[in-house]
Order: sequence, then structure tokens, then C-alpha cells
Amino acid sequence: MSNESLANLLKEERRFAPPADLAARANVTAEAYEQARADRLGFWAAQARRLSWHTEPTQTLDWSNPPFAKWFADGKLNVAYNCVDRHVENGLGDRVALHFEGEPGDTRSITYAELQREVSKAANALTELGVQAGDRVAIYLPMIPEAVVSMLACARIGAPHSLVFGGFSADARVVITADGGYRRGKPSALKPAVDEALTRPGTENVRSVLVVRRTGQEDVAWTEGRDVWWHDLVERQSDRHTPEAFDAEHPLFILYTSGTTGKPKGILHTTGGYLTQISYTHHAVFDLKPESDVFWCTADVGWVTGHSYIVYGPLSNGATEVLYEGTPDTPHRGRWWEIVQKYGVTILYTAPTAIRAAMKWGDDIPAKFDLSSLRVLGSVGEPINPEAWVWYREHIGAGTTPVVDTWWQTETGGIMISPLPGVTETKPGSAQVPLPGISATVVDDDANEVPNGSGGYLVLTEPWPSMLRTIWGDDQRYLDTYWSRFEGRYFAGDGAKKDEDGDIWLLGRVDDVMLVSGHNISTTEVESALVSHPKVAEAAVVGATDPQTTQAICAFVILRGDADLGEEESAALVEELRAHVGKQLGPIAKPKRILPVAELPKTRSGKIMRRLLRDVAENRTLGDVTTLTDSSVMELIQAKLPAAP
Ligand code: WT7
Repeated sequence: MSNESLANLLKEERRFAPPADLAARANVTAEAYEQARADRLGFWAAQARRLSWHTEPTQTLDWSNPPFAKWFADGKLNVAYNCVDRHVENGLGDRVALHFEGEPGDTRSITYAELQREVSKAANALTELGVQAGDRVAIYLPMIPEAVVSMLACARIGAPHSLVFGGFSADARVVITADGGYRRGKPSALKPAVDEALTRPGTENVRSVLVVRRTGQEDVAWTEGRDVWWHDLVERQSDRHTPEAFDAEHPLFILYTSGTTGKPKGILHTTGGYLTQISYTHHAVFDLKPESDVFWCTADVGWVTGHSYIVYGPLSNGATEVLYEGTPDTPHRGRWWEIVQKYGVTILYTAPTAIRAAMKWGDDIPAKFDLSSLRVLGSVGEPINPEAWVWYREHIGAGTTPVVDTWWQTETGGIMISPLPGVTETKPGSAQVPLPGISATVVDDDANEVPNGSGGYLVLTEPWPSMLRTIWGDDQRYLDTYWSRFEGRYFAGDGAKKDEDGDIWLLGRVDDVMLVSGHNISTTEVESALVSHPKVAEAAVVGATDPQTTQAICAFVILRGDADLGEEESAALVEELRAHVGKQLGPIAKPKRILPVAELPKTRSGKIMRRLLRDVAENRTLGDVTTLTDSSVMELIQAKLPAAP
């Protein structure tokens, strides 16, 4: 990747200082960077002491066999005890842990004392099913309290969980699922997918399927001797359970990455280091005050954001949080804002794709609700275009609430690069600075650190507590994927740029960089240029093979406010958009084709599946669409596609 081409990022001059009152009372101040710089391992050892250990660790990092890390290896702890019991012991049993809001409008608030009883019962139930420490449990549940309870019950008995969206490769002993869940106003069945998956080879170890009744409306197929209702088994258990302490390096969960490319990787996370970093980052990045804040992370518990910032981070910190089952537009497009108003949400953590959808639906919708409780806004999952960032701050955050753009990955386990809301002067579109105790930089093809103002590859230069320990069952792939491109450094797979101040801007996956007439152009840059046009709500850009220019830029755009244009107007707008991109980024970055579409293909974690769009742009038959949220989207896009030029 040449520096010249990545350096031409949109000029973004807007700056936002932290609010004075937040800065004055911030959990973490600029001093933390100093402390961590002076003694990085000492800094993490101090953060580990925010947890309750059964046996305090005396070791911090064991890096004697890099890149296989051990953190706090001689310590022992129980994750569920840290997330639940200790708060009850500290007199906080009556504090609400979860405000559950079902899509149909059913609600349930669960205190820490209740959560302790629920988790204990579930732990006893799993034990009755024969699950022992080290056995795997697969979880395939909607966003209901039982999902959180199940994860904590597994952690409590030392059984690593694996939450699955699509097909299982479950060598699990037990699968926990539900009859169904609610999505877009309708019950949607889940158990048939489990039944189907369990007919496949490799699933012979599954002895039991534990089924939560959520919708109660489906006719549930039942395998006698294997299937058991949650309300039959769990409800009759004792609500007392003594947590056992596990080694800090005991496996906590395996999570399969969303897989926009290639075969899924089972990312392994362990106990002590993971919980240390997740708990610290949740406290630092969101400035969480557990006694007064109401936290809401809108992610699904089935992906890493949900693991770390719905389950382990907030609960280890004793937070009160919202858990919402459904989609943002059911039964109306103000549902999220209604939830913020109802529960007085103070910290909201969501993804750029959701922010852009809200922008598209119109400013008037959030304006109808009282969002004045909000004091910190977070973003995660992909680069956030400056326009979406500013809209988020203006229309959701009343123009005063800090926005923290948090960069991390399933593999990093927790947040790595992010502003701190009480410290950092923020820049729309940039994740800016590695957190205290984290070492990241940008290097060129030869692994040399690039000077400020240049682009290259994002690398992590020191091990961190919540790092993946390996790819499950495939150490070699762990080495090859992350540690072979640059000697001794973790290669994240993302392009990045350092600005004149040394702040980091993420530019998307390096696989997504396009080569046009000898210039590298990042898809993120062109997408941001398109979204900065007032008529564009969302854009996805791909490089399509082109005989003249190697690749040609092909853009798919969603217009704001549901604009329905005639052919002529549409052609005129396409020309206007091409000119707009040309003006912002130079003529070489002008898309060859721009196609207005109604929807874009996304994975359930909200990432655009560029692979599929490339298929369309190159007139190929469609590749695998199984991880798509809605495969009919692709039919719509293909139907709109004019014959290739
Ligand atoms: C990839 C990791 C982090 C949990 C959710 C996604 C992209 C993530 C940002 C951000 C720019 C971002 C990267 C990263 N990404 N956050 N703030 N700015 N890019 O986890 O599915 O493992 O994806 O998401 O490309 O490598 P994941």
C-alpha cells in the first residue's frame, strides 16, 4: 500500500473538547497514560486488582513463548462471581442489573440479587446435565435475559461457551436455545436450525438441548431424551451455587469471527486477562459511574461486542444496563430513542451502520424524544464517516455529548484504540489514541513506523491482557494470520493513517483497498466522501476488475429520506455524486459506476459484505449468502443492476 494514496484522507478540521464537568469528574485522566508509559505491566497488574481474585496473581505477563501469552497465570478467579456475587456481597443486591425490553413490549427488570439466583440455578442445571469444567456449551438464543444468564452460568462452572449465529461445528456437550425470538414484529423460530445442525456429522457429542420458551407460538419439534425445557429443568434447581475458582488462563469462550472473507476462525479467550481489560476499558472509555449510569450497548450478545460490553464489562463493573431484543424500527423508527427516554439511558454504544440508518430515517424522529439523559456516545464495528459522527453528536447527543470511536476486534477481546471522554479532544472519524497500557502504531510494507501524516498498516506492538490466545485447534493458523506479516508484531488486517498530530485514523480492511490505475484507494475514503454529500445516507464501495484500470470503483448508495427518483433525476444525481467525490479526493477516486439501492447486504454484526457486491459488480453469480441478515437484499440489488457497460 503506498503512503501517498492513503494520505489523502478527507480533510477533517472539526475538533470537540471534552465537556468540563465530565472532565472534572472523569474516572480516568491523562495521568493514566503516564503511569502506563512508565510501567506498562505494573499498570495492568494494578487494573487486575479491580477484580476479586480467589488467589491473587504474583505474575503479570509470561511472554516466554511468543506469541502465546499468559497473563496473571498463577492467579485464580471466578468470572461469574466477579460479575454477580461480589456486588450482592457489597450490598448492591437491589440494584438493577438488566432492564430487559422485549420487542413485543414485554419487560423485566432483574436485580443483581435475582441475577445471582438465576445464574446459580442455571449452573446447577448444567451440572445436572453432566457439564463439567472444560466441556463446551453452545448457545443459540435471542437477546433475552436467559442468554446472559447462560453465559454467566457457563463461566461459573468453567465450561467455555460458544455463541453461534449460523451452523454449528459443535463438539459441545449441551446446546442452549429457544423456541424462537421476536424480530420485526413477528415470532421467528430458532430451534429448527438447531435440530437441522445436529443432524450433521461432528455434532455427536451433543447430549442435551436446553430450550427456553420465548415465543410459545411455534409448534416445537421435540427429540425425547435429548431436548429439555428450560422451565422444567432450570426452575426446579436450587438458587444457591458455590463458584469454584479457575486458573487465569482457563478458557472462557470461543467465538467464531463473522467471516466476511474466508473460513471462520474460532477465537479463544481466557479468564483473568480478558476480564481485567474488559472491566477496565468499560470503566475508562465510557466513564461508567455504576451508581447513577444506565448503560446500553445495542449489539447482539452473540458477537464479541455483546460478550465484552453487554455481559462481562458492564456486569463486572456493577452497572445497570438495557437489554433490547428487537430491531430499531419495530414497531416504529423511534423505538431506540423511546427506550433511551424510558430508562434514562446515559451511555449508548452502537455501530455506524445503525447511526447511518437513523440519519436516513430523518432528524425529526429522534427529535420527538427526550434524549437529555445521554452523556457519552460510543461507536464500534467499522470506520465511522465524519458526517455520521457529527450527526450522532448533534442529533442524539444534543451537540454536547462526547463521541468515542472505539477500534478493536474479536481477536483483541476489548477496546484498544479510542478517545477517553474526559481527556481527549475528539476528531470526527478517528479512533485517535491507543488506550493506556496498549501499544499500537502504523507501519509501512517494510515494517517501519510511518511518520505523522502517512498511511500504512495498523499493528499492535506489545501483548495485551485480553488478546486472543490462539485460534481454537489451530496454533499454526494463529501464527500465520496475525504474527507472520511483521516480525514480532500483531497485524490487525486494517489499513490506517497517522495524522499530523500522530492520531490514528482507521481506513478499513486492507483486503478492501482498491487498485485503480496504479493508485491504492481505500473503500472507506470513497464511502466517506459519498456520505458527506447531503443526499447520501449510506455507501458501499468495491473495486471491480476492469480491463483498463485494473480495478474500477463501483459504489452502491442509499439515498436519504427514501428518495424515489425517476430515471433522468437518477442519472443527474449519479453525475453530481461522481463530481462530488472527484472534488473531495481527486479525479482518480471518482467511481466509474454509482448505483442507488434500497438496502445493502450486511452480516448480523452490521458489516457490509463487499464480497457479494463485488460479485454483482463483476456480474458473477452470487457467493455464499448464509451470514447475511436478509438474503432478499441481494435479489433487489441484482434486479436493479443495468447491463454491465
Ligand atoms: C474489524 C473487527 C470490535 C468489535 C466488533 C467488530 C473493524 C471495528 C472499528 C472502528 C474502524 C473498526 C476493523 C476491525 N472495526 N471497530 N472503530 N473503526 N474500524 O469485531 O467482527 O472482529 O471486526 O472491525 O476492520 O479489524 P470484528
